[in-house]
This record gives sequence, C-alpha cells and structure tokens, in this order.
Amino acid sequence: MRVVLLGGAGYIGSVASHHLTALGHDVSVVDGLIYNRGDDLRRLLPGAARFEYGDLRDPALLARACAGADTVVHLGGIVGEPASQVDEGLAVELNYASPLIAAEAAKTAGAGHYVFFSSCSVYGMHEGTVDEDTEPNPLGIYARTKVLAERRLPDVLGADTMLTSLRLATVHGSSPRQRLDSVVNSMASRAAATGRIPLNGGSQRRPLVHVGDVARVLAGVLEERLAGAWNVGSDEENHTIVGIAETVAAVVPGAVIQRGPERDEADARDYRVSFARLQRQMPGACSTSLKDGVQEVADLLLTGTVNDPDQAQFDNHRGLIAAYTSGTVRAMGTPECLRYGAEYTAAWGQS
Ligand SMILES: NC(=O)c1ccc[n+]([C@@H]2O[C@H](COP(=O)([O-])OP(=O)(O)OC[C@H]3O[C@@H](n4cnc5c(N)ncnc54)[C@H](O)[C@@H]3O)[C@@H](O)[C@H]2O)c1
Repeated sequence: MRVVLLGGAGYIGSVASHHLTALGHDVSVVDGLIYNRGDDLRRLLPGAARFEYGDLRDPALLARACAGADTVVHLGGIVGEPASQVDEGLAVELNYASPLIAAEAAKTAGAGHYVFFSSCSVYGMHEGTVDEDTEPNPLGIYARTKVLAERRLPDVLGADTMLTSLRLATVHGSSPRQRLDSVVNSMASRAAATGRIPLNGGSQRRPLVHVGDVARVLAGVLEERLAGAWNVGSDEENHTIVGIAETVAAVVPGAVIQRGPERDEADARDYRVSFARLQRQMPGACSTSLKDGVQEVADLLLTGTVNDPDQAQFDNHRGLIAAYTSGTVRAMGTPECLRYGAEYTAAWGQS
C-alpha cells in the first residue's frame, strides 16, 4: 500500500515509518523538521522511505505528495496546550488548516483513506469514563483545533475518501526522534538523570499508550480499513499522575518523588478513557505497559544515548519557541489558512 505520512519525521511518525516499511508498505514522509536539531534523516527514517522537506500548509506540495497515494496520514501540527499557546493563529494553521488542506489534496488525488491524528485531549474534563460517543469537552486551543478538524474533515473528504480519527492517549517510549516533554518520558528521563521525579499535581487521570503500539494500531487501521473515531490505548493504562510517578520510582533504582505545586494550572485535563472499541477490534494491540516504556526511556539515559534530558531538542514547547523566535515557523496567512482560520474563530471565538 502506498502511504504518505505528513509530519512523519516526528516522535510518532519516525517509529510508524519504520514499522510500516517493515510490513512492506511503500512509505513517503513529508515534514518541515520544525524542531530540526541536525538529526540525521538516515537514522530518523528507514532507508526505504522517500522524504520530502516542506510545509504542510502548502497546497502544491500536498498535491504532489498525495498523488498516487492509497492512504494519507496527517501527524503534523503542534502537540499539547502549552505549545499551542505560543501563537494561537499558528496553532490553528498547523493543527486545523493544515489537515483540511491535506484532505483537499487527498480527495483530489483519489486517495481512498485519510487518517487524522487526534487526541484524547478532546475529552477535556469528565466525570466517569469517556468513550468515542462522549461529547468532546475541549479545554484549550490544542483540543479545539482537534475537535473542529474531526468535525470538518468528512465534509472536505466527501463520500469517496474514508476518514479515520485516532484519538491518542498520551504517548511514551523511545523513538528515533525522541521527545522527553510528555509526562511519562519527562519523569522517567529526569529520574534516570538526577534521581528525582518532578511531580506537579497528582490526582488527574491520564490514559497512556506506548509509541510502538501506536504504530501497530496505525498499521492495523490501514490494513483493516477501519473508519470513524478510535481511542488509542488500553483500559489497563489509565493512570493518575501520582501513579505514573510511583511507577517511575519503582522502575528507576533510587529515584525519589519531588512534589511541586498540587496542580498544573495550564493543564486541567482529567478523564478516564474506555478503549473497549479498539480492544474488540484489535485485541492486545496496546499491551506495552507503562513500566516497559519507563524502562526504555530510563535506558536512553543509562546507556548514554541521551546525556541531558533538559536540552531543548527533546522539548517540543521550547523547540517551538526557538523556531518561532528565529522566524523559522510563523503563521503564513495564506488564503487557505485565512479561510480555515475564520472557521475556527466562528466556532470557538478567539481566546
Ligand atoms: N505524542 C503524544 O503524546 C500525542 C498524544 C496525542 C496525540 N498526538 C498527535 O500525534 C501527532 C504526532 O505527534 P508527535 O508526538 O509525533 O509530534 P512531533 O512534534 O514529534 O511530530 C510532528 C511533526 O510534524 C512536523 N510538522 C508540524 N507542522 C508542520 C508543518 N506545517 N509543515 C511541515 N511539518 C510540520 C514537525 O516538524 C514534526 O516532525 C500530532 O498530531 C499530535 O497532536 C500525539
């Protein structure tokens, strides 16, 4: 199958590109390398994958990239609320306009399947357990861009291009393009580097999933042609922040929890997610445990693969600020971006 991974040189995409090529798929990656740290693309991506450098807001580039594709997968965008707050207009272009511009290209190219990488963040804060039928409750810019893209993509794709929205739990584990800014990877890397586990808050619930399992689910979705919204993770991997810290303390010898403020005000997300739908369709697809992911990340430090987890290169938020400050990444205000930006403002207002 010919698969185009838009934003495929990132944390998840680099793992997915290796997995999909190993399964025999013909993989092309398009990425603007926003967080470019001089990564060696030969290490980041499999030799069999084609790579094109460019911006995922560029309709001409997307038309070229999607030509002949069976499936187009959109993994691009800014991840998480703090990074999305750097510039709301930029976040709307990268997280809302870009997937829709790519959908126009996928439809024109006759791709039969479009996969959008969404997030369990769409659920925001909820009592009880949420599933794919629960009304989203987006708490910030990041979740609003994801919710609106999920809602608008079917109109743009039309009847002939099937849409799958993958609502990912928070991802952990090692990747050729390592991120250490998400909750598990941050705690595990700091525990291994300093013996301390920084803990802000504690009672909020977070569903987790291993990056390798995400790649396996993506492959399954392509092969089984699964449509609609899917929570990606497993019921067993719903944790609290304090529970994650305790697991890290149990895995990394000698590491102690260091408590900070009770709650991280920038991140009020709190939800327990049901992954029953995915479990029924792909039993055991997300069975890598939190403990395994923690060990994997701790090993990056213990083996010297990563020396300093505080380097900006491992932190998307700081990486985006650096790219934004240097002018490498800015809102472009192209006609397509302005059109989709107006839709976002009409739906949510400007925060
Ligand atoms: N990592 C997680 O915990 C997590 C959780 C839920 C959802 N997701 C979603 O999964 C997807 C991938 O996440 P990730 O962790 O791999 O992020 P990442 O930042 O590592 O990867 C995104 C890639 O997209 C590229 N990109 C973004 N906008 C671009 C543009 N306009 N032009 C060209 N390239 C562009 C970046 O250079 C980067 O390589 C995102 O859509 C994210 O919202 C991730």
